[in-house]
Amino acid sequence: KKRVAILISGGGSNMVRLVEDMADPDHPAEPVLVLANDPAAGGLEKARALGVPTAVVDHRPFRGDRAAFEAALQAELEKARPDIICLAGFMRVLTEGFVRKWQGRMLNIHPSLLPKYRGLHTHARALQAGDVEHGCTVHEVTPELDDGPILGQARVPVKPGDTPETLAARVLRQEHRLYPAVLRRFAAGDRTPVMLD
Ligand code: GAR
Repeated sequence: KKRVAILISGGGSNMVRLVEDMADPDHPAEPVLVLANDPAAGGLEKARALGVPTAVVDHRPFRGDRAAFEAALQAELEKARPDIICLAGFMRVLTEGFVRKWQGRMLNIHPSLLPKYRGLHTHARALQAGDVEHGCTVHEVTPELDDGPILGQARVPVKPGDTPETLAARVLRQEHRLYPAVLRRFAAGDRTPVMLD
């Protein structure tokens, strides 16, 4: 099986869905590490409850020294020896040097239909633009932020009266379908995009 490390910053609902899907004995991958940049990340407890090893590299003591922070991340990853890294609500921007080490082996989920709305506040921006549909994307991580080959997308309608919160909740339900579907394919060596409605 392919060894998967999942990087999180918060609640980790996408991480939970990936780990649950990998519980299938026929899955081509297995979770070997959940790594957080915040000791208060709610996903850490959920990972432990699911029996997945966890580690924390708190970014704050590094005071903006990204290279040193990433060296510490790299050290944890080298211990776990993942074949694939899944960023799942990991809210630190990674430098080109780190990304290049893992390029072709690192995935990210982003809450918009890329190439629209790279970066933050994607739901508010989709509403502001008057979009009638929105969604989420899983892509390979390349040095440019929220760029890189698209491995899957799922769409949702924007509904009258939506707020960023109601729209985010609708998108998150699709993230929970999309990311496990993409990881299954990717771990089996298939990069054909998964397109969900
Ligand atoms: C998800 O909506 C994910 O797409 C987003 O953060 C949320 C994490 O939720 N990621 C980004 O915005 C990355 N820039 P989760 O912790 O419950 O999976």
